[in-house]
Amino acid sequence: MSSNDVTLTTPDHSVSLPLVEGTQGPSCVDVAPLYRETGHFTFDPGFAATAACKSAITFIDGEKGVLLYRGYPIEQLAEKSRFLEVAYLLLEGELPTPAQMHTFEDKVTHHTMMHESVKNFLHGFHYDAHPMAMLCASVASLSAFYHDTNDNADPAQRKLAAIRLIAKMPTLAAAAYRYSIGWPIRYPRNNLEYVDRFLHMMFEVPSEPLELNPVAAKALDLLFILHADHEQNASTSTVRLVGSTGANPYASVAAGIAALWGPAHGGANEAVLKMLTEIGDAKNIGKAVARAKDKNSGFRLMGFGHRVYKNFDPRAKIIRGMAHEVLDELGVDDPLLDIAMKLEEVALKDDYFIEHKLYPNVDFYSGIIYKALKIPTSMFTVMFAIARTAGWISHWIEQHEMPGGRIGRPRQVYVGATPRAFVALDKR
Ligand code: SDX
Repeated sequence: MSSNDVTLTTPDHSVSLPLVEGTQGPSCVDVAPLYRETGHFTFDPGFAATAACKSAITFIDGEKGVLLYRGYPIEQLAEKSRFLEVAYLLLEGELPTPAQMHTFEDKVTHHTMMHESVKNFLHGFHYDAHPMAMLCASVASLSAFYHDTNDNADPAQRKLAAIRLIAKMPTLAAAAYRYSIGWPIRYPRNNLEYVDRFLHMMFEVPSEPLELNPVAAKALDLLFILHADHEQNASTSTVRLVGSTGANPYASVAAGIAALWGPAHGGANEAVLKMLTEIGDAKNIGKAVARAKDKNSGFRLMGFGHRVYKNFDPRAKIIRGMAHEVLDELGVDDPLLDIAMKLEEVALKDDYFIEHKLYPNVDFYSGIIYKALKIPTSMFTVMFAIARTAGWISHWIEQHEMPGGRIGRPRQVYVGATPRAFVALDKR
């Protein structure tokens, strides 16, 4: 038994299990030998205390509100970087040199078009289809068009798929939006930077030129940075699980989009806006907080709580500060922001929220900014998906680069019927 082992004693066994240490964060007990040595599984629904992999991409300290992308604090990246540079950092592990940044940006710019046939898929949807449904379908369809990135073992093909996904996500997202409102789809303009190009595809109309707003572009770029990655969250874990089967990168990311859609995850930003709108007035906040504390209500304060952050979500702090600045600069006076600020104030003083360590998360304020940028509520989670694509595909590549990768296949505690004999229909 090495000094780095822990001993687990059961009624019938005593087994030493190695500790796995990372560069930061809690060490982990390697339970791989457990079943073989003791006949026991581990049980951890929701994986609250389970490390599913080793990763060098993002580090979170939930107690201290720390978020690092490849070792760089999110606060520094938010202040000094831009989304496409952060995407490079997540993918490559280092900040790019000017030459590397130019090459990366040029590659992304020249992979923004989508195959004309993808428009046919969009036309197969009703106009009122949720944009996340259209995005999920169109991203999954990409594997039908690109047969030159089907070999997951080829690093060059993995990287090309990453470039394509980061480049095309805004095009597919804007196309889904334009289809849902009956506007003609806009092609990406290579002379525009990543975020301006997206805003142009979203809002440019044939009847008049679009005046791009630098405040909107800066705010959106910052939101993309803050949403780019977040360790092994539900959608990233989904991408990794699908990727572990050998599925292609487009199908893996499409699975991540599906997972992100849920209101407990990326769908929360859309749910926050609906909740704030339903609250409607600061005088109703007390009732909403009381409902959220009532277990029988099934109601939760959307945008509050987090599996990992138990003091504050550093992203929420940054977005909260930005919300005022952006709305002031855009000359938007949104009463929902006032309600959000008041709701946060009331909730953070409430014993229930203090005891349960429920603080505003990344989704609480982001929707207010998206709304100020005239992005419709149904597109909020799509915005999250555009940004998180950089993280998803970085994790997908990392898992293919890590030696010894195996298909993910959790076990269970079986609570069903014990063996019994079949009874013929006429005997039942
Ligand atoms: C994201 O994982 C990530 O990193 C995700 C994310 C990322 O960048 O990828 O950060 C993005 O998904 C942010 C979270 C967005 N979701 C929401 O805002 C939805 C509302 N919040 C929750 O449903 C909840 O807080 C979760 C899903 C975020 C976290 O769920 P957990 O960790 O499983 O916590 P839980 O559901 O077990 O709740 C613990 C307790 C419960 O009470 P008890 O049964 O212990 O008495 O806290 C209560 C819950 O009822 N609780 C809430 C609450 N969230 C938890 N009560 C009221 N309102 C809430 N929002």
